[in-house]
Amino acid sequence: MKNDNNLDVSPADVLVTTGAKQAIFEAICTLIDEGDEVLLLDPAWVSYSAIVKFAGGKPVMVPVSEQEGYVPVDLQSHMTRNTKLLILNSPCNPTGAVYGKNVVKAAAEAAEDHGVFVLSDEVYEKIIYGAKHHSIGSLVPDRTITINGFSKAYAMTGWRLGYATAPAPILQGMLKIQQHSVSNATSFVQRAGVEALRGDQGAVRAMVAEFKKRRDIMIDALRKMGIECAPPRGAFYAFAKVSQFGNSVEVTEKLLRDALVAVTPGSAFGPNGEGYVRLSYATSRQNIEDGINRIEASLAQA
Ligand SMILES: Cc1ncc(COP(=O)(O)O)c(C=O)c1O
Repeated sequence: MKNDNNLDVSPADVLVTTGAKQAIFEAICTLIDEGDEVLLLDPAWVSYSAIVKFAGGKPVMVPVSEQEGYVPVDLQSHMTRNTKLLILNSPCNPTGAVYGKNVVKAAAEAAEDHGVFVLSDEVYEKIIYGAKHHSIGSLVPDRTITINGFSKAYAMTGWRLGYATAPAPILQGMLKIQQHSVSNATSFVQRAGVEALRGDQGAVRAMVAEFKKRRDIMIDALRKMGIECAPPRGAFYAFAKVSQFGNSVEVTEKLLRDALVAVTPGSAFGPNGEGYVRLSYATSRQNIEDGINRIEASLAQA
């Protein structure tokens, strides 16, 4: 956290969790009471709104547009007296947006002005193509919960390991929830995490270079089929506009049924994702080419 993101933390400021998702769950359950509003940038990763609702809060969807690179342009106008938390996720699942310095600074100022906490989900920070990752916790540490994990950068998805830092009272609340639910992250997986962080990072660089090639194959192929898709600057998803073929769920079901290709309907990420589907390129080049060919054949019959 110190090296990558300029966060001034000591070991006591870090909670090791059973995946980033558990950390997000614990943070939201600690902070959110009945009726509290939580700003989500729509389209947003599926679990945020579900967890906010679980905690009794109200997800407030702030649409971000493809034309503006899927970055928030006016957060202030969505903040009310009830806004408790803003969730940021850069690089973003599903859009692949990476927030530049000015976007992060504006979000920090909005949070400061309105007394809002920020949950910054940075699990894709290392899967980034030429852009630079900015961590909002370096600007407003007193109101930021920073979340990271090993599922993406180190492909340790099933091993369930993540970590968080937050202001002490929030971290204490998170620890309480963890102690009385899952107890702790698996001890020997924590050892593997230490190896992952301390070891040679060449494997991560090689994987990101390969993801970039896969991204380019997928985006080019989609464009050749007449499907628009802004090139993602991070993570490993293409968020493709398919409204000419039907709504998100119809297209998803058709591709699953006819082409045996699994995509995620954009509407699962929020109302603003309607008309899009999310494709993952965390699979081999061969699978990507086969999948795209099947999608093309299936949609040609639409
Ligand atoms: C944005 C985002 N945050 C968190 C997670 C969960 O990560 P973990 O496997 O560490 O729980 C995912 C996984 O898909 C994700 O896309």
